[in-house]
Amino acid sequence: MVYPRPWRSARPTVLTGPSSTVGKVRDPSASPSRLLTRDRWNSTCRPRKAEATDTADLRLLVLPDLHLDRWIAAGRDPLDHLTPDDFAGVDLCILGGDLTNEAINRWPRVFGWLAERVEPSKTFAFEGNHDYYFASIDDRGRHAEIAAAHGVGYAQMGEIVRGDHRFLCTTLWTNFELHGDPRGAMVAAERLMNDYTMIRAATDDHSRLRPEHTARIHVRHRAWLEAKLTEDFDGETTVVTHHAPHRSCVPPAVANGPAYASDLSKMIEQYRPARWLYGHTHIPHRTTVGVTDLRCCSVGYPYEDSRGRLPSRQDVIVLPQPHRRSS
Ligand SMILES: [Fe+2]
Ligand SMILES: [Fe+2]
Repeated sequence: MVYPRPWRSARPTVLTGPSSTVGKVRDPSASPSRLLTRDRWNSTCRPRKAEATDTADLRLLVLPDLHLDRWIAAGRDPLDHLTPDDFAGVDLCILGGDLTNEAINRWPRVFGWLAERVEPSKTFAFEGNHDYYFASIDDRGRHAEIAAAHGVGYAQMGEIVRGDHRFLCTTLWTNFELHGDPRGAMVAAERLMNDYTMIRAATDDHSRLRPEHTARIHVRHRAWLEAKLTEDFDGETTVVTHHAPHRSCVPPAVANGPAYASDLSKMIEQYRPARWLYGHTHIPHRTTVGVTDLRCCSVGYPYEDSRGRLPSRQDVIVLPQPHRRSS
Protein backbone atom coordinates (compact mmCIF):
# COMPACT_ATOMS: atom_id res chain seq x y z
CA MET A 1 0.00 0.00 0.00
CA VAL A 2 1.45 3.38 -1.00
CA TYR A 3 0.45 6.29 1.15
CA PRO A 4 0.39 9.89 0.06
CA ARG A 5 2.58 11.78 2.51
CA PRO A 6 2.84 13.84 4.54
CA TRP A 7 -0.47 13.78 6.37
CA ARG A 8 -0.69 17.58 6.32
CA SER A 9 -1.12 17.54 2.56
CA ALA A 10 -4.73 16.51 3.06
CA ARG A 11 -6.90 19.54 2.44
CA PRO A 12 -9.55 20.29 5.02
CA THR A 13 -13.07 19.64 3.84
CA VAL A 14 -15.40 22.54 4.40
CA LEU A 15 -18.91 21.37 4.83
CA THR A 16 -22.15 23.18 5.26
CA GLY A 17 -25.62 21.96 6.01
CA PRO A 18 -27.90 21.06 8.85
CA SER A 19 -26.64 19.24 11.92
CA SER A 20 -30.02 17.78 12.76
CA THR A 21 -28.77 14.23 12.31
CA VAL A 22 -26.76 14.24 15.54
CA GLY A 23 -27.72 11.32 17.73
CA LYS A 24 -29.48 9.44 14.97
CA VAL A 25 -28.09 6.67 12.85
CA ARG A 26 -28.60 7.18 9.20
CA ASP A 27 -28.54 4.74 6.38
CA PRO A 28 -26.00 6.59 4.21
CA SER A 29 -27.67 5.38 1.05
CA ALA A 30 -30.97 6.89 2.08
CA SER A 31 -32.25 10.43 2.09
CA PRO A 32 -30.80 12.41 5.01
CA SER A 33 -33.94 12.49 7.07
CA ARG A 34 -34.69 8.78 7.08
CA LEU A 35 -33.55 6.61 9.95
CA LEU A 36 -32.19 3.12 9.52
CA THR A 37 -34.61 0.56 10.86
CA ARG A 38 -34.76 -3.18 10.64
CA ASP A 39 -37.60 -2.92 8.12
CA ARG A 40 -35.69 -0.44 6.00
CA TRP A 41 -32.61 -2.63 6.04
CA ASN A 42 -34.54 -5.71 5.06
CA SER A 43 -36.57 -3.96 2.42
CA THR A 44 -34.23 -1.43 0.84
CA CYS A 45 -30.63 -2.32 1.64
CA ARG A 46 -30.60 -5.80 0.16
CA PRO A 47 -26.89 -6.50 -0.30
CA ARG A 48 -24.95 -8.91 -2.48
CA LYS A 49 -24.91 -12.65 -1.77
CA ALA A 50 -26.84 -13.93 1.23
CA GLU A 51 -25.60 -11.52 3.89
CA ALA A 52 -27.94 -10.14 6.55
CA THR A 53 -30.67 -12.59 5.69
CA ASP A 54 -32.47 -14.68 8.26
CA THR A 55 -29.94 -17.48 7.91
CA ALA A 56 -26.63 -15.80 7.11
CA ASP A 57 -23.83 -14.97 9.51
CA LEU A 58 -23.10 -11.29 9.96
CA ARG A 59 -19.46 -10.33 9.42
CA LEU A 60 -18.52 -7.44 11.69
CA LEU A 61 -15.39 -5.32 11.67
CA VAL A 62 -15.10 -3.13 14.79
CA LEU A 63 -12.16 -0.73 14.80
CA PRO A 64 -11.78 1.57 17.80
CA ASP A 65 -8.46 3.41 18.06
CA LEU A 66 -7.61 3.24 14.37
CA HIS A 67 -5.41 6.37 14.85
CA LEU A 68 -4.91 6.41 11.11
CA ASP A 69 -2.89 9.65 11.18
CA ARG A 70 -0.20 7.84 13.17
CA TRP A 71 -0.13 4.85 10.81
CA ILE A 72 0.08 7.06 7.73
CA ALA A 73 2.91 9.05 9.32
CA ALA A 74 4.69 5.73 9.95
CA GLY A 75 4.08 4.60 6.34
CA ARG A 76 2.19 1.55 7.51
CA ASP A 77 -1.22 -0.01 7.01
CA PRO A 78 -3.01 -0.99 10.24
CA LEU A 79 -5.19 -3.49 8.39
CA ASP A 80 -2.58 -5.17 6.19
CA HIS A 81 -3.33 -8.50 7.86
CA LEU A 82 -6.76 -8.54 6.16
CA THR A 83 -7.19 -9.73 2.58
CA PRO A 84 -9.41 -8.28 -0.16
CA ASP A 85 -11.75 -11.23 0.41
CA ASP A 86 -11.91 -10.36 4.13
CA PHE A 87 -12.94 -6.80 3.29
CA ALA A 88 -15.39 -7.91 0.60
CA GLY A 89 -17.19 -10.08 3.12
CA VAL A 90 -17.70 -7.34 5.72
CA ASP A 91 -21.38 -6.60 6.32
CA LEU A 92 -20.86 -3.86 8.90
CA CYS A 93 -17.84 -1.80 9.93
CA ILE A 94 -17.95 0.36 13.07
CA LEU A 95 -15.19 2.90 13.71
CA GLY A 96 -15.44 3.15 17.51
CA GLY A 97 -13.64 6.41 18.20
CA ASP A 98 -10.05 7.73 17.93
CA LEU A 99 -10.16 7.50 14.14
CA THR A 100 -7.55 10.29 14.22
CA ASN A 101 -6.76 13.47 16.05
CA GLU A 102 -8.66 16.54 14.81
CA ALA A 103 -11.74 15.01 13.21
CA ILE A 104 -12.88 18.08 11.29
CA ASN A 105 -9.72 18.14 9.19
CA ARG A 106 -8.81 14.44 9.18
CA TRP A 107 -11.96 12.32 9.11
CA PRO A 108 -12.31 12.91 5.33
CA ARG A 109 -8.93 11.26 4.81
CA VAL A 110 -9.92 8.33 7.02
CA PHE A 111 -13.17 7.77 5.15
CA GLY A 112 -11.38 7.97 1.79
CA TRP A 113 -8.79 5.44 2.95
CA LEU A 114 -11.36 3.04 4.35
CA ALA A 115 -13.59 3.34 1.26
CA GLU A 116 -10.87 1.54 -0.71
CA ARG A 117 -11.52 -1.46 1.54
CA VAL A 118 -15.11 -1.34 2.83
CA GLU A 119 -18.12 0.24 1.16
CA PRO A 120 -18.99 3.53 2.90
CA SER A 121 -22.64 2.46 3.08
CA LYS A 122 -21.56 -0.35 5.43
CA THR A 123 -19.46 1.95 7.63
CA PHE A 124 -20.51 3.86 10.76
CA ALA A 125 -18.40 6.11 12.98
CA PHE A 126 -18.51 7.89 16.29
CA GLU A 127 -15.93 9.83 18.29
CA GLY A 128 -13.34 8.86 20.86
CA ASN A 129 -11.44 11.45 22.84
CA HIS A 130 -8.74 12.04 20.18
CA ASP A 131 -11.24 13.01 17.50
CA TYR A 132 -11.91 16.22 19.44
CA TYR A 133 -8.23 17.27 19.69
CA PHE A 134 -7.46 20.83 18.51
CA ALA A 135 -11.21 21.52 18.53
CA SER A 136 -14.27 21.59 20.74
CA ILE A 137 -16.07 18.82 22.56
CA ASP A 138 -19.25 20.34 21.08
CA ASP A 139 -18.29 19.74 17.43
CA ARG A 140 -20.19 16.53 16.88
CA GLY A 141 -22.68 18.22 14.56
CA ARG A 142 -19.79 18.92 12.20
CA HIS A 143 -18.61 15.34 12.53
CA ALA A 144 -22.03 14.03 11.52
CA GLU A 145 -21.96 16.27 8.46
CA ILE A 146 -18.50 15.06 7.44
CA ALA A 147 -19.57 11.43 7.77
CA ALA A 148 -22.72 12.05 5.72
CA ALA A 149 -20.71 13.83 3.01
CA HIS A 150 -18.63 10.67 2.61
CA GLY A 151 -21.58 8.27 2.63
CA VAL A 152 -20.73 7.03 6.14
CA GLY A 153 -23.28 6.71 8.96
CA TYR A 154 -22.78 8.71 12.15
CA ALA A 155 -23.43 6.56 15.22
CA GLN A 156 -22.88 8.70 18.31
CA MET A 157 -25.65 7.54 20.65
CA GLY A 158 -26.83 5.55 17.66
CA GLU A 159 -28.58 2.23 17.16
CA ILE A 160 -27.73 0.19 14.08
CA VAL A 161 -30.00 -2.72 13.19
CA ARG A 162 -28.96 -5.51 10.84
CA GLY A 163 -31.48 -8.32 10.66
CA ASP A 164 -31.71 -9.81 14.15
CA HIS A 165 -28.66 -7.95 15.40
CA ARG A 166 -28.62 -4.51 16.93
CA PHE A 167 -25.57 -2.44 17.79
CA LEU A 168 -25.72 0.32 20.40
CA CYS A 169 -22.88 2.81 19.94
CA THR A 170 -21.60 5.67 22.08
CA THR A 171 -18.29 7.12 23.31
CA LEU A 172 -19.31 6.65 26.98
CA TRP A 173 -16.38 8.51 28.63
CA THR A 174 -16.05 7.68 32.37
CA ASN A 175 -17.44 8.60 35.78
CA PHE A 176 -13.96 8.60 37.44
CA GLU A 177 -15.32 6.31 40.17
CA LEU A 178 -13.31 3.20 39.34
CA HIS A 179 -11.06 3.48 42.41
CA GLY A 180 -13.70 4.99 44.71
CA ASP A 181 -12.20 8.50 44.73
CA PRO A 182 -13.78 10.43 41.86
CA ARG A 183 -12.52 13.82 43.08
CA GLY A 184 -8.94 12.60 43.26
CA ALA A 185 -9.28 10.81 39.92
CA MET A 186 -10.51 14.00 38.27
CA VAL A 187 -7.60 16.02 39.63
CA ALA A 188 -5.14 13.38 38.40
CA ALA A 189 -6.80 13.15 34.99
CA GLU A 190 -6.72 16.91 34.50
CA ARG A 191 -3.02 16.93 35.33
CA LEU A 192 -1.99 13.90 33.28
CA MET A 193 -4.41 13.40 30.37
CA ASN A 194 -3.90 15.26 27.09
CA ASP A 195 -7.67 15.45 26.67
CA TYR A 196 -7.78 18.31 29.15
CA THR A 197 -5.27 20.45 27.31
CA MET A 198 -6.08 19.53 23.69
CA ILE A 199 -9.87 19.97 23.74
CA ARG A 200 -11.98 23.00 24.49
CA ALA A 201 -15.61 23.37 25.53
CA ALA A 202 -17.35 25.76 23.15
CA THR A 203 -20.51 25.90 25.21
CA ASP A 204 -18.51 26.82 28.32
CA ASP A 205 -16.97 30.02 26.98
CA HIS A 206 -14.38 28.02 25.01
CA SER A 207 -12.62 27.12 28.23
CA ARG A 208 -10.36 24.11 28.51
CA LEU A 209 -12.20 20.83 28.71
CA ARG A 210 -12.35 19.65 32.30
CA PRO A 211 -13.11 16.24 33.85
CA GLU A 212 -16.40 17.68 35.08
CA HIS A 213 -17.43 18.18 31.45
CA THR A 214 -16.63 14.62 30.41
CA ALA A 215 -18.25 13.19 33.57
CA ARG A 216 -21.47 14.98 32.57
CA ILE A 217 -21.22 13.59 29.05
CA HIS A 218 -20.74 10.13 30.56
CA VAL A 219 -24.02 10.53 32.45
CA ARG A 220 -25.79 11.46 29.21
CA HIS A 221 -24.27 8.65 27.15
CA ARG A 222 -24.87 6.09 29.89
CA ALA A 223 -28.50 7.17 30.31
CA TRP A 224 -29.08 6.82 26.57
CA LEU A 225 -27.48 3.38 26.58
CA GLU A 226 -29.47 2.18 29.57
CA ALA A 227 -32.72 3.44 28.02
CA LYS A 228 -31.91 1.53 24.83
CA LEU A 229 -31.07 -1.63 26.76
CA THR A 230 -34.45 -1.49 28.49
CA GLU A 231 -36.21 -1.54 25.10
CA ASP A 232 -37.36 -4.96 24.02
CA PHE A 233 -35.44 -6.31 21.05
CA ASP A 234 -36.17 -9.68 19.50
CA GLY A 235 -32.60 -10.54 18.64
CA GLU A 236 -29.04 -10.08 19.84
CA THR A 237 -27.58 -6.86 21.26
CA THR A 238 -23.97 -5.76 20.87
CA VAL A 239 -22.78 -2.65 22.71
CA VAL A 240 -19.88 -0.72 21.16
CA THR A 241 -18.25 2.02 23.24
CA HIS A 242 -14.95 3.85 23.05
CA HIS A 243 -14.24 3.90 26.78
CA ALA A 244 -14.16 0.67 28.77
CA PRO A 245 -17.08 -0.61 30.87
CA HIS A 246 -15.49 -2.83 33.52
CA ARG A 247 -12.73 -2.73 36.11
CA SER A 248 -11.04 -5.79 34.60
CA CYS A 249 -10.31 -3.77 31.45
CA VAL A 250 -7.60 -1.72 33.19
CA PRO A 251 -4.86 -3.34 35.29
CA PRO A 252 -4.64 -1.75 38.78
CA ALA A 253 -1.12 -0.51 38.06
CA VAL A 254 -2.27 1.68 35.17
CA ALA A 255 -2.14 5.32 36.17
CA ASN A 256 -5.38 7.16 35.54
CA GLY A 257 -7.41 3.97 35.36
CA PRO A 258 -10.60 5.91 36.20
CA ALA A 259 -10.08 7.98 33.03
CA TYR A 260 -10.10 4.79 30.95
CA ALA A 261 -12.91 2.71 32.46
CA SER A 262 -16.03 2.84 34.59
CA ASP A 263 -17.36 -0.18 36.40
CA LEU A 264 -20.71 -0.88 34.75
CA SER A 265 -20.96 -4.45 36.08
CA LYS A 266 -24.51 -3.97 37.32
CA MET A 267 -25.71 -2.66 33.96
CA ILE A 268 -24.00 -5.50 32.11
CA GLU A 269 -25.41 -8.19 34.40
CA GLN A 270 -28.91 -6.67 34.45
CA TYR A 271 -29.37 -6.20 30.70
CA ARG A 272 -27.17 -9.07 29.52
CA PRO A 273 -26.05 -7.85 26.08
CA ALA A 274 -24.46 -10.64 24.06
CA ARG A 275 -21.21 -8.73 23.80
CA TRP A 276 -19.63 -5.40 24.70
CA LEU A 277 -16.83 -4.27 22.41
CA TYR A 278 -14.71 -1.29 23.45
CA GLY A 279 -11.39 0.46 22.90
CA HIS A 280 -9.48 3.43 24.38
CA THR A 281 -7.20 1.33 26.62
CA HIS A 282 -5.13 -0.15 23.75
CA ILE A 283 -4.74 -3.13 26.09
CA PRO A 284 -5.69 -6.56 24.68
CA HIS A 285 -8.30 -8.00 27.01
CA ARG A 286 -11.21 -10.42 26.81
CA THR A 287 -13.39 -11.78 29.59
CA THR A 288 -16.98 -12.72 30.38
CA VAL A 289 -19.15 -10.66 32.73
CA GLY A 290 -22.37 -12.53 33.50
CA VAL A 291 -23.25 -13.80 30.05
CA THR A 292 -21.64 -10.89 28.20
CA ASP A 293 -18.52 -11.34 26.09
CA LEU A 294 -16.36 -8.31 26.90
CA ARG A 295 -13.61 -7.58 24.43
CA CYS A 296 -11.10 -4.80 23.72
CA CYS A 297 -10.87 -4.23 19.96
CA SER A 298 -8.31 -1.38 19.94
CA VAL A 299 -6.24 -1.18 16.78
CA GLY A 300 -3.73 1.02 18.58
CA TYR A 301 -0.60 2.91 17.54
CA PRO A 302 1.94 1.53 15.08
CA TYR A 303 4.71 1.63 17.69
CA GLU A 304 2.59 -0.54 20.00
CA ASP A 305 2.27 -3.10 17.24
CA SER A 306 6.03 -3.03 16.60
CA ARG A 307 6.74 -3.65 20.28
CA GLY A 308 4.35 -6.56 20.48
CA ARG A 309 1.93 -4.71 22.72
CA LEU A 310 -0.92 -5.53 20.36
CA PRO A 311 -0.45 -9.25 19.81
CA SER A 312 -3.83 -9.79 18.22
CA ARG A 313 -4.69 -7.68 15.17
CA GLN A 314 -8.39 -6.93 14.84
CA ASP A 315 -10.06 -9.49 12.64
CA VAL A 316 -13.54 -9.74 11.17
CA ILE A 317 -15.90 -11.08 13.84
CA VAL A 318 -18.42 -13.59 12.54
CA LEU A 319 -21.76 -13.34 14.35
CA PRO A 320 -24.04 -16.32 13.77
CA GLN A 321 -27.72 -15.69 13.27
CA PRO A 322 -29.13 -15.37 16.80
CA HIS A 323 -31.96 -17.53 18.00
CA ARG A 324 -35.20 -15.56 17.83
CA ARG A 325 -37.26 -15.55 20.97
CA SER A 326 -40.56 -15.43 19.10
CA SER A 327 -39.85 -17.67 16.11
FE1 LIG B 1 -6.89 5.46 21.28
FE1 LIG C 1 -9.24 7.01 23.31
